[in-house]
Amino acid sequence: MKPEVPCPRPPYFSTQQNAWVVSAYADVTSVLRHPLVGVVGSTIEVSRPPVPDAGGTAHGVVRRDTQAAFSAAHRQEWHTDLTPLAHRLVAQLPEHDADLVTGVAIPWCLSLAQLTSGVAPATMKMAVAHAATLFHASAHATSGQPGGESAHAARTLLELLSSPETETTRAAHAGSVQAFVAITHSLPTAMACIWHTLLLHPAPMTTYRNAPQHRAAIIEELLRIASPSRVVFRVAHDAVHVGGVTIPRNASMVVRIADANLDAAVFHHPMRIQCDRTSPPVALGLGLHHCAGASLVRMALECTTSAIFATGERTVARATGALPVPWINGFAIDGPQAVRVNVHPGVASHVS
Ligand code: HEM
Repeated sequence: MKPEVPCPRPPYFSTQQNAWVVSAYADVTSVLRHPLVGVVGSTIEVSRPPVPDAGGTAHGVVRRDTQAAFSAAHRQEWHTDLTPLAHRLVAQLPEHDADLVTGVAIPWCLSLAQLTSGVAPATMKMAVAHAATLFHASAHATSGQPGGESAHAARTLLELLSSPETETTRAAHAGSVQAFVAITHSLPTAMACIWHTLLLHPAPMTTYRNAPQHRAAIIEELLRIASPSRVVFRVAHDAVHVGGVTIPRNASMVVRIADANLDAAVFHHPMRIQCDRTSPPVALGLGLHHCAGASLVRMALECTTSAIFATGERTVARATGALPVPWINGFAIDGPQAVRVNVHPGVASHVS
């Protein structure tokens, strides 16, 4: 059953991936922060010292626009608007063999996408279909280069997000395609991952319900153990020394963030959910390209997870007899496609 505890090793060249693979926590954090390591397609003139991105480049514009679109005030407003929906969706779950993905994660995230993007309801289905193409291409990517099909889907989705029917107050910005794909697909996948994992850990599930002060830390731990983001891709703009090896200029890198998050040298008993970890996980990336939607992700996970696992009226437990669940099985993004539960009335003293 996924995830398995990996065994991080020093960086090595994979002939299969035609790239250097980096997986130990120390090496992954060093690569993600390294000024001479960039995302695929980026350029850094190595004769000059790299300048921190001040927001003027295409990447900086995406970051700035995404963060502005998801300001603290907006997040608070969406949290208030969407908390009742989360509770309603949970209340509507059937008692036996309910699926938290189709029953809660997807409808809740689609409502969030609608609110954040302002896409007209009639356009939503088409926009989500293009987002699905982009998400599946990202999930199964084995390098940072997008395929031709992705370019077409991205163009069409941007047109839909920029259409006159989209509310002008939430008009498309440079990061809106990436954000729409993330909210409609990455976010429900992250919910599936963390709920699947929480259901396997009865004690933290009880803590989540009874100790609101630990909820944020439990969610952080669930993201560490079970983030859907398995790897990110990088390129060395010059020779880079990491983990005792030299990665040559122009080399591609596969940065295994999921393995780093389970590195036992940093996270003792890596599969245990502990609220007192001191090293930050890299589930949402790190450095210049750290997830620009991280605060929105945390808000969304807290809102929906609390509606499922922390309400007084119902207890959700793993449906043990259910059929095995398919996983996305992507190289870059993975997660269960369903989370099957039974829903009992009242609060259980013991959940198994
Ligand atoms: C609310 C939904 C989300 C939005 C709006 C969003 C937005 C973004 C954006 C714009 C970036 C690029 C940042 C940059 O290049 O500077 C990014 C990066 C990233 N996001 Fe998200 N994201 C969301 C959800 C998620 C989820 C659910 C995960 C996984 C748990 C995730 C994991 C990551 C990771 C690992 C990166 C770094 C990629 C890299 O280093 O190459 N994101 N996100």
